[in-house]
Amino acid sequence: MMNETLRQRLQDGVLVLTLNQPPVNALGNTLRKALVQAIETAQADPQVRAIVLHGAGRGFSAGADITEFGQPREFPWVGDVCTIIENCDKPVIAALHGMALGGGLELALGAHYRIAARGTKLGLPEVQIGLIPGGGGTQRLPRLIGAAAALDLMLSGRHASVDEAKRMGLIDRIATQDDPLEEACTWASEILAQGGIVRRTRDAQALGDSAPSLAAVEAARAGNARKARGLFAPFQILDAVKDAIEQPFEAGIQAERARFLQCVDSPQRAGLVHAFFAERRVRKAPETESSQPRPVATVGVIGGGTMGSGIAVALLDAGLQVIMVERDDASLQAGRQRVEKVYDRLIANGRMEVARKEAVLQRFTGATSYDAFAQADLVIEAVFEDMDVKKAVFGELDRICKPGAILATNTSYLDIDAIAASISRPQDVIGLHFFSPANIMKLLEIVVPAKVSADVVATGFALADKLRKVPVRAGICDGFIGNRILYVYREVASHMMEDGASPYEIDQALEEFGYAMGPFRTNDLTGGDIGYATRKRKAATRDPNARYVRIADQLCERNWLGQKTGRGWYRYPEGSRSGQHDPEVLALIDAERAERGIQPRTFSSEDILRRYMAAVINESANVLHDKIALRPLDIDVTLVHGYGFPRWRGGPMHYADTVGLDKVLADIRSFEKEDPLFWKPSPLLVELVERQASFASLNQLI
Ligand code: NAI
Repeated sequence: MMNETLRQRLQDGVLVLTLNQPPVNALGNTLRKALVQAIETAQADPQVRAIVLHGAGRGFSAGADITEFGQPREFPWVGDVCTIIENCDKPVIAALHGMALGGGLELALGAHYRIAARGTKLGLPEVQIGLIPGGGGTQRLPRLIGAAAALDLMLSGRHASVDEAKRMGLIDRIATQDDPLEEACTWASEILAQGGIVRRTRDAQALGDSAPSLAAVEAARAGNARKARGLFAPFQILDAVKDAIEQPFEAGIQAERARFLQCVDSPQRAGLVHAFFAERRVRKAPETESSQPRPVATVGVIGGGTMGSGIAVALLDAGLQVIMVERDDASLQAGRQRVEKVYDRLIANGRMEVARKEAVLQRFTGATSYDAFAQADLVIEAVFEDMDVKKAVFGELDRICKPGAILATNTSYLDIDAIAASISRPQDVIGLHFFSPANIMKLLEIVVPAKVSADVVATGFALADKLRKVPVRAGICDGFIGNRILYVYREVASHMMEDGASPYEIDQALEEFGYAMGPFRTNDLTGGDIGYATRKRKAATRDPNARYVRIADQLCERNWLGQKTGRGWYRYPEGSRSGQHDPEVLALIDAERAERGIQPRTFSSEDILRRYMAAVINESANVLHDKIALRPLDIDVTLVHGYGFPRWRGGPMHYADTVGLDKVLADIRSFEKEDPLFWKPSPLLVELVERQASFASLNQLI
């Protein structure tokens, strides 16, 4: 029957089992049971001499059925299915195409032979949702391809291509056709003709001598100490591979199951699963549902500075045609050099071939006249952050670009409605707010002005997809979603600093929470001048009674801008990137406290964290209240992918729910007594507490 979850076909002694669970052959309970039954029947059936596992539709299998997450787990588990496949004494061949991920790849590891079609993505991404491969993957993969390669795949969760998989021995053959089934069946006959040898992955010998394998585990542990700080699952993966080296297979499998269950119970798993689903849901906005994107092949970029050059690289990497326009030849040359530098660094690290760079740059042209944009489908402006300059640029675009071309600005703060209103085609104007470095950072705020057409917004989302970015829909306000919240938590950090916490204590508290860098260290990395410019811009509209901490400005006045000037909040002797505490900064802070008559008090890490998070959560609630973000999950994704919020905590809104909104509000009300101008409880937060509702309840609305 064609609609069965597992299709079976016997031909010339080869039984083809086709997983048929659209859309991605997730290994749900029905399919797992069907597989076990089919293999057991085949084992006993003398007509079956070999088995080929295959997937219907888009790919072999994307692994676990995510809709079963959180429900009681029913037997057989994926690991049981893998063991039954491996134990079969008739050769089993996995014929892979599309994707073999997570439990899908583990099934293939349970098989005795593997063939994959070109384009198949192979990987064990469990770590990304706080898990370890729990279907025998941690024990079979290192035995098959060695400890170092197995750890690389499992700790990153990345996808390997078929060429890489073949090189590392993860697959035996690359199919010549798109569908590998026919070749797998031919291969099965060959294997039978040669005696039908069963080759079990558990018996593979790639781990070899234990000493170098154990050294590889320890090297990976050291390499992940910083990257995976605070995370649970990566260290379970490391220990599981150590088990694979030191223990018999069965014991390793038992230990893997125990580790897997510990991961399931860990609170960070809830955070990671939230992040995982949020990252998918942000890709849908009202406009993506109602409209088709406009086609985009050629993109203009105006400005070849920090952002323009990074945006150009992101576009080139996605295979688009790029035209960069700068003010004059010298600036254009500098812009081109910034672009080339990215590729030269990849070449220097052995991650790109020179010929590939040349091929990529074939799609890159430069000009000093906007006339070059006549045929562009989309133009992204990244010139100086100055309204008059931007309006002049848009005036030129209005004159030159073809009808229907999308005109985008990368502005961080300026009013895009005002830019749109200054030209004759406001319906084509949108904000595409990239983050620095634009070719690396995943976040892309799609900023939606009042008059823009829905298909332009849909095109922004489609572009993000093409660039492999995470798009978040944002409304117009000062700073959109991310920078608006950033401004407020920077303020609270400076308040705490003036009141007695050192910048180093504040950074440490947040780094312990899970940020890769605290706010002061981050400031040193991005440059103090950016925040300084923002504060100066806001000076005119600032409430004269509001608290204003001058210390950051005093650093900027001394040109202590951070890493680029060798000192900021930290000192960076001779280009060092890990900063040292600076007694002169502490003295400057002390002097300012004395001048203002502030008696410094002590802040524990917990005090620091509570104030900082209260500020983040309160301003996030305001952003929602003002309808700048669609849902709480959009804020979570913004702060995780643009501002270093630890992903395993899910994002600030998810975190707030885990703390309890009543507790957060109580904190805000107590801080309000000290500074009622800064600490105004957000009306939305108050309402949620009154209704005893959570931020999560608002995620369901769209
Ligand atoms: P930048 O100063 O590094 O680069 C600006 C470039 O624009 C310069 O190379 C300049 O020669 C060129 N330019 C100026 N006027 C021009 C014109 N009329 N025609 C052609 N080229 C012109 O500045 P950056 O940092 O790249 O910022 C650009 C924009 O991106 C600003 O709106 C900024 O707010 C925004 N942005 C900056 C971020 C950052 O981290 N630096 C992050 C996100 C957005």
